[in-house]
Amino acid sequence: MSASIEIAGVSKVYDGGVRAVDAVAMDIRQGEFFSLLGPSGCGKTTTLRMIAGFETPSSGAIRVDGADITHVPAHKRDMGMVFQNYALFPHRTVAENVAFGLRMRGLDKATIAAKVKAALAMVELSGLEDRRPAQLSGGQQQRVALARAIVIAPRVLLCDEPLGALDKKLRQQMQFELKQLQKKLGLTLVFVTHDQEEALAMSDRIAVMNGGRVEQVGTPTEIYNQPTTRFVADFIGDTNIFRGERTAAGRSLDVGKGLILALPPTDAHGTGVLSVALRPEKIRIAPRTDAATTAGSSAHGIVENTNFLGGAVLYRVTLEGGHRVLVQQPNAGTSRLFVPGNGVTLEWTPADLVVLKD
Ligand SMILES: Nc1ncnc2c1ncn2[C@@H]1O[C@H](COP(=O)(O)OP(=O)(O)OP(=O)(O)O)[C@@H](O)[C@H]1O
Ligand SMILES: [Mg+2]
Repeated sequence: MSASIEIAGVSKVYDGGVRAVDAVAMDIRQGEFFSLLGPSGCGKTTTLRMIAGFETPSSGAIRVDGADITHVPAHKRDMGMVFQNYALFPHRTVAENVAFGLRMRGLDKATIAAKVKAALAMVELSGLEDRRPAQLSGGQQQRVALARAIVIAPRVLLCDEPLGALDKKLRQQMQFELKQLQKKLGLTLVFVTHDQEEALAMSDRIAVMNGGRVEQVGTPTEIYNQPTTRFVADFIGDTNIFRGERTAAGRSLDVGKGLILALPPTDAHGTGVLSVALRPEKIRIAPRTDAATTAGSSAHGIVENTNFLGGAVLYRVTLEGGHRVLVQQPNAGTSRLFVPGNGVTLEWTPADLVVLKD
């Protein structure tokens, strides 16, 4: 049976005073694919190692299905872990690697053999039992590490950047397979990655971390469409961020250099300084017209450069006042591409602006 995990105000200060994790609170639901996403050094591995029991929190508590396990040793937590470098035993065969956790639990030989066989079938490695890690591809080694973690039927599976070493194609395939396996087994899976696309593609929910803290927890669409902080808006995908002062009426934002943005209708229309985010794909681009722009939701500019991405085209446009804006358009195949120097008119819908709390 998979478990829920509650991380209640957990901090970790390492010897020497590094505050790696700072008052982190989150609830991971039973059977959920939950990702910890953030830049290098933000505390992802430390958080995962505290869940696993390899590190002890300096303060706060960790509960599994409501029971406090903060001081329960790792081997009594019923958790499987996949490390970034796989950490396979190089001199042992695939079967011996997978059997490791079962032998530690003192199971009999026949039971171990049956469980190893089933786990290897699950990750599609049947037939490779007698190879050693060095005789396997990166993706196959990855699967051995996964089989070794799930063979003990853990209540929770913890994965620390498990796909980091794989090339893009294989990585995508393994993403798909890991997700399928997780759903099939109903596993609670905590997945660490610094790759935002990977987190968006795989997760039920994501915790975005920064400097030891959790910035936002949400579904991939919430994190992408409604980032609550500047950090999240900036870290997840390309985005345009504007900072300015609300105008006297409070309905729009003066971001300087002659650009005024109409605020979304949902905004509370207060006063003061504010940041907003606008995704590049929410901006429409067309050949420059002579018509005056609509105050708050359009502007004239010049294309500075064009980046052909295959499925889409990314433009960097400098607006008349000097603001630089990213615009992304799907590649329809037939439409003409703008080239550097082209005069264009950009247009957007105020409701697509996301107000950030900084
Ligand atoms: N054993 C340790 N002793 C002291 N400081 C540590 C230790 N382990 C990690 N740190 C520090 O704690 C902070 C968080 O490290 P952590 O490994 O959790 O980050 P991370 O998010 O996993 O980063 P990455 O993406 O690079 O793996 C970093 O500043 C790191 O240098
Ligand atoms: Mg790490």
